[in-house]
Amino acid sequence: MSNPSSPDRILIFDTTLRDGEQSPGATLNVEEKLIIARQLARLGVDIIEAGFPFASPGDFEAVQRIAQEVGTADGPTICGLARATKADIERAGEAIQPAVKGRIHTFIATSDIHMQYKLRKSRQEVLAIAPEMVAYAKTFTDDVEFSPEDAGRSDPEFLYQVLEAAIAAGATTVNIPDTVGYLTPAEFGDLIRGIQENVPNIDQAVISVHGHNDLGLAVANFLEAVKHGARQLECTINGIGERAGNAALEELVMALHVRRSFYNPFLGRPAESEDPLTNIDTRQIYKTSRLVSNLTGMFVQPNKAIVGANAFAHESGIHQDGVLKNKLTYEIMDAQSIGLTDNQIVLGKHSGRNAFRTRLQELGYDLDDQALNRAFLRFKELADKKKEITDWDIESIVNDETQQAPEHFYLDLVQVSCGDNSRPTATVIIRTPDGQELMDAAIGTGPVDAVYKAINRVVDIPNQLIEFSVQSVTAGIDALGEVTIRIRHEDRVFSGHAANTDIVVASAHAYLHALNRLYAALQGGKALHPQRDAAPVAASR
Ligand code: KIV
Ligand code: ZN
Repeated sequence: MSNPSSPDRILIFDTTLRDGEQSPGATLNVEEKLIIARQLARLGVDIIEAGFPFASPGDFEAVQRIAQEVGTADGPTICGLARATKADIERAGEAIQPAVKGRIHTFIATSDIHMQYKLRKSRQEVLAIAPEMVAYAKTFTDDVEFSPEDAGRSDPEFLYQVLEAAIAAGATTVNIPDTVGYLTPAEFGDLIRGIQENVPNIDQAVISVHGHNDLGLAVANFLEAVKHGARQLECTINGIGERAGNAALEELVMALHVRRSFYNPFLGRPAESEDPLTNIDTRQIYKTSRLVSNLTGMFVQPNKAIVGANAFAHESGIHQDGVLKNKLTYEIMDAQSIGLTDNQIVLGKHSGRNAFRTRLQELGYDLDDQALNRAFLRFKELADKKKEITDWDIESIVNDETQQAPEHFYLDLVQVSCGDNSRPTATVIIRTPDGQELMDAAIGTGPVDAVYKAINRVVDIPNQLIEFSVQSVTAGIDALGEVTIRIRHEDRVFSGHAANTDIVVASAHAYLHALNRLYAALQGGKALHPQRDAAPVAASR
């Protein structure tokens, strides 16, 4: 990179673990965050925003462990978010400390509506706090990012002043958030151009953009910003995040990849340059998308660009004829470029442990012996029920087996009886956190309802089921069924996910998965929200 404040490629700042995790129900535990962080490092993101360390001890621990384990010399920069208060910044500084490259991202709102109603502070006060807190963050790390929250609705003249002061105090990245997803691409482009032209010291910082998808414009806005000099994009896998979500990483990266001849000149390159515009290994995109979807319980809609099930539907027959005659009739990119392997039949009942391990390694899964044994047992069970095992089945088993939350409640048995003219009845045996084995039974309107009622008789944590969905992993009557559910407890939402050829069993496991997360959250206490929870006034300086 020639000039750190004007990189010659686009930096990808992934905020799946911070803004993405702010999606209702997407709560992740420390282990799950580590799994995602490792995959983000394989994907090649430049910066991982690993969380908001002041939120809770669990959030602090997650950022610290990611800093320790993923923030290695050749790994990404690890960033912690902090409101513009000393207490937040201190906590973020401590959490990122083990990373070889650590960043503090501090923010304060600059729009009149946020300053008046949320912060209850004047422009003068905000103009003083921003540089003071940037300077304080600099005492922990050289790499400090500053965001004027709700920049999209801020008075541009005031915004220029705040940015100039933050850069003068040492901010090396200034991030421009369209917090409420209000701007259009032309307006966002003008905002970045205005900053370039009116902030005298802007050449000393990287311009970053952050935006929400309330009007479905986040990706288009960012691409316009790139044309005007933005060199860092803040995005999430599958576009998850507050409300309608953030700009989707996979869409930005593939737009810059597929249309590089259009974007190259904006980075001073010849149009025909083949040098990648980002550091992302695009072949890791599909796997990362599946992982984040499974762990957060946030579904990917079938028609979602790049990673939706239908995005490469011609692969499975539609438009097949046209595609075969000339690939370019319907394809602007090929499925392999995002790591979508053909849904090949790879293994069967007689495949041994070595063949299974080799295929897992080819798919990029490096499991320790214990996890491999568990996954192999699941594979054998599946091979008894299902003749042909595909890569997608294998991925589903591995995700299910190795990425579950710690099991406080463990399902030992689920048994159902149902059918026409009968009363659906379920029996469950559950091991509880204090080691007891409890059995109970219930009647329901259907088999899943009966199972959930039986579980509720054992696990007495009030909650409401707000979403339940089943999807098959592959075609065929013997396919694995993946169940994703969401439950609400008071004002918090928790998701659960499980896969099995028996969808009633998958439903039981998915419910226990969600209950385990709910139980863990109750033990851990409530986490603060970085934007909605106001910083205590006394702690602000
Ligand atoms: O949307 C937003 O403004 C944010 C800030 C904390 C950068 O997430
Ligand atoms: Zn945001």
